[in-house]
Amino acid sequence: MIGLKVPRKEANQIRLLLLENKILNLNFKIKRSPNYVYLPLLEIPGKDLIKDDGLQVVDTKFEEAKRNPRSVEEYLEGQIPAEKMETLKKSFDIIGEVVILEIPEELEDEKRAIAEAALKFTKRRAVYRKGSEVKGITRTRELEHLAGEDHSETIHQEFGTRIMLDVKKVYFSPRLATERKIITGQVEDGERVLDMFAGVGPFALSIARHHQVEVYAVDINPDAVKYLKRNLELNKLQERVVPLEGDVKDLLEGMAIKFDRIIMNLPGSALEFLPLALEHLKAGGVVHYYQFSRDLDDPVQNIKMAAKNRRVKILDRRKVKSTKPGEWHVAVDVRIY
Ligand SMILES: C[S@@+](CC[C@H](N)C(=O)[O-])C[C@H]1O[C@@H](n2cnc3c(N)ncnc32)[C@H](O)[C@@H]1O
Repeated sequence: MIGLKVPRKEANQIRLLLLENKILNLNFKIKRSPNYVYLPLLEIPGKDLIKDDGLQVVDTKFEEAKRNPRSVEEYLEGQIPAEKMETLKKSFDIIGEVVILEIPEELEDEKRAIAEAALKFTKRRAVYRKGSEVKGITRTRELEHLAGEDHSETIHQEFGTRIMLDVKKVYFSPRLATERKIITGQVEDGERVLDMFAGVGPFALSIARHHQVEVYAVDINPDAVKYLKRNLELNKLQERVVPLEGDVKDLLEGMAIKFDRIIMNLPGSALEFLPLALEHLKAGGVVHYYQFSRDLDDPVQNIKMAAKNRRVKILDRRKVKSTKPGEWHVAVDVRIY
């Protein structure tokens, strides 16, 4: 293999020159002797580049350079046939120390190799595979442990908010981080906010960290409320957030309080809770409504129907994330008078 034999003193300068001109072969290691350095080459450099007569192009052996793989696929190279690799979903969720992968049936035999690769690549503590869609009233999913420790409790950081949770027991999606930022940006000091389906509290925590507010955070899943309370301690927000466990329908019944802002992140069935939300919204208050939908218009129509004679001002509507082909988790911010 060709290399450039360079006196040690000049080696660094020449190396940079070769690198800049894309002639240095990065797949091989630079070799050293007491007086010379051998730089592996991709091609013989032109005379205009190497003017020094003391430099010699030589035929010599170089050791292969091992570089760290840059993706899970690179870790798996040689372990899984290329055509099977095509079916591997490239995106995965990292929640604190936990990695959650989606591995199709065709890759059943390779699932452990994939999980080990994900563990090495992400340098996290545990890898689980999605065993089902999120389902039931608590919106949790089955998870199959594949690599690392089978320890599903973790602390996730989201724009500086510390969120503790157990991925097996509660709903949490890191893919909603930007959505939480968008909502937090709309809140004003002094507001009273209701988070109807708060989970472990990511919306409530973010809002309360950034504003002087009073947030009522409700969830029906006792595990979610347990972590919500821990998260209020972790972020020192006990003064601003009231955690409530139970069905929001029962908890709001007979409650005279009205809210400046209501968050309704239960996209599969928020529609049935709209009348209740509107009953507890001040005139001129804002609702952040979420729905699974094939278009942006359907959720808007649903809000207008539920608002009956009240005036509705749509502030924004957006696709939060894709849920299945052609369907979106859609957000609508609406002011209702
Ligand atoms: C999609 S998750 C959203 C959680 C949280 N907002 C987040 O972004 O992580 C919906 C949550 O609503 C809760 N939930 C479902 N039905 C409810 C009800 N009737 N009353 C209160 N909470 C409910 C579930 O337990 C779940 O934690």
